Amino acid sequence: MYSTAFLDLPPLASASGTVQLPGSKSISNRVLLLAALSSGRTLIHDLLDSDDTRVMLTALEQLGCGVERGVGGVVTDVAITGLGGKAPLAFAKLFLGNAGTAMRPLTAALAVLGGDFTLSGVPRMHERPIGDLVDALRQLGCQIDYTGNDGFPPLKIGQPQLKLNAPIAVRGDVSSQFLTALLLALPLVAKQDVHIDVIGELISKPYIEITLNLLQKFGIAVRREDWKRFTIPAGSRYQSPGEIWVEADASSASYFIALGALSMPVDSQKGLKNQPAIRIEGLSENAIQGDIRFIEAARQMGALITSGANHLEISQGAWPLKAIDLDCNHIPDAAMTLAVMALYADGTTTLRNIASWRVKETDRIAAMATELRKLGATVVEGQDFIQITPPARGAKSSDWKAASIHTYDDHRVAMCFSLAAFNPAGVVVRIEDPKCVAKTFPDYFETLFSVVTPKSVPVICVDGPTASGKGTLASRVAEQLGFHYLDSGSLYRLTALAAERSGVDWSDEQALTQLAKKLPVEFEGGAVLLGGDDVSEDIRTEHIGMGASKISVFSSVRSALTDLQRSFAKLPGLVADGRDMGTVIFPGSPLKIYLTANSSTRAERRYKQLISKGISAKLDLLRADLEARDLRDSSRASAPLKAAEDAVLLDNSNQTIEQSVDFVLSQWRSKLGL
Ligand code: DC
Repeated sequence: MYSTAFLDLPPLASASGTVQLPGSKSISNRVLLLAALSSGRTLIHDLLDSDDTRVMLTALEQLGCGVERGVGGVVTDVAITGLGGKAPLAFAKLFLGNAGTAMRPLTAALAVLGGDFTLSGVPRMHERPIGDLVDALRQLGCQIDYTGNDGFPPLKIGQPQLKLNAPIAVRGDVSSQFLTALLLALPLVAKQDVHIDVIGELISKPYIEITLNLLQKFGIAVRREDWKRFTIPAGSRYQSPGEIWVEADASSASYFIALGALSMPVDSQKGLKNQPAIRIEGLSENAIQGDIRFIEAARQMGALITSGANHLEISQGAWPLKAIDLDCNHIPDAAMTLAVMALYADGTTTLRNIASWRVKETDRIAAMATELRKLGATVVEGQDFIQITPPARGAKSSDWKAASIHTYDDHRVAMCFSLAAFNPAGVVVRIEDPKCVAKTFPDYFETLFSVVTPKSVPVICVDGPTASGKGTLASRVAEQLGFHYLDSGSLYRLTALAAERSGVDWSDEQALTQLAKKLPVEFEGGAVLLGGDDVSEDIRTEHIGMGASKISVFSSVRSALTDLQRSFAKLPGLVADGRDMGTVIFPGSPLKIYLTANSSTRAERRYKQLISKGISAKLDLLRADLEARDLRDSSRASAPLKAAEDAVLLDNSNQTIEQSVDFVLSQWRSKLGL
């Protein structure tokens, strides 16, 4: 997962490959609650591992359920031993984050079971309405108080005095989760037939279908009359199916379906026909999740989609995509993906009947409109619709703009805007707070990067003389950007060390070249391994540094290490430090920094470094050593140390490391046009 402040997505060229998606959030949290309310043990396979399921699992544990995580060593297999209709532990304070799928059904279940409970969440959760559910539960005789603002969590739940004779009325036009919550809770007390009447037009019906489908699997056969009345038959009792599989998340699939539609597959670029761009495992067109109908909308926009028994395959059909005018009430979450696909359409796309967007993780209509406009789109927003016209793109100029996308702590905003990186103008898309995807898809960006090919991988080069602070600067910049990091000097040091260990002289060019070609090196976390041995400390000695400097004069040693160095350039990007990163290894790099500091400052830094490690050193000798090494590095015939012509010079003699990092990050930002 990327926990950086932002993640820069370089322009993407194509996509190809297979993805395995995490389990559905809606199914996961419903199954967890159902298993908790049943008697016996339920083994759940392919459960989503995310913030929302984690808060649910913790809550169930607090209520006295048995929770076994990672059954058989599989993170996504979880077993729940349910309460079997018994009252949960009578007192609990539950924190439910921003998980609506935990807050609503737990409120209903605990309110009918009774006890002394408080339910709270993050500040945004306390702005998400729950009044209609509380009103419905109060009619039933449940004891629920608002401890903050009326109509919103936090809630305090007490002992109910249940009255089940009259039908229970619940509004269906704000969130279908209220009805789901009642449907999941009332079988616990259905000594007689219990009727629920829906007031107003029921939105998001597909989510109710998921609820009914899963209730069936746990032994409850709800009778439905139209979408108006639901009856839970007298004597209903939860029965665990023993084992259950969670479908891959159809809303998460929408990003990869879109990806297939946006991307000319790499294979067909190579002349291999009929290769789908993207294959999604764990989901088919017959999924029980409503968002699977996103497929129909994506087809209307031009995607070619085929379904197998447990997979989907997607390729580009029409290009540009076709603009659509669609009622999206049945696919509220996946419709956000359509809003970004609209950036690639041949006209204006209108998504209608999406008022529920306004009460989700954030006001999604306002959020989507604001962020789409940043990219150059023309957007009209209404109370319950959004209309998107893509940025104009002429032969010479384009209205697309590089943008820093604010994500409002909303996982879907972050995920759907990543698709904007396919823009034909080649502008960068910065996703702020990328870790918000953890709500439903913690490895979203890693999964995306595993199937996309960028126009080029961005590389930031930091070159400079020894002890200029390149390593510290480059690794800090890499950390802040979430980029990979290459300390190219370590490869020369490793070669020198490998030579010494196998008795090869540092002047034997041929033997050194053979060693460099097959260097058995691995980088694991912060450690450097040579033939499986941790040599992180061994390569840092002054002696090996001098050896590295000596062997690096040989051009055949240098070229033996070239491919290895280039192989570090992977998405989302690389920061590489060394001597010739900008001049030889990554000459096309968009940002090259040439770092210097005067030799006395550098000698002092090296001195402090050595002393802090308990190694004795003499300042004047160190300085003489540095100057000798500078001379050799800069006067050698092969790739001498020098600033690339297009490098930005940075003398950090009088700077703190933070100042240097900020300097590089601001240079990067302006290179991206942000
Ligand atoms: O950056 P460092 O001190 O770890 O580098 C050790 C030696 O390796 C340095 O004296 C010169 C050589 N080197 C090089 O020639 N080219 C690079 N890109 C990196 C290091």
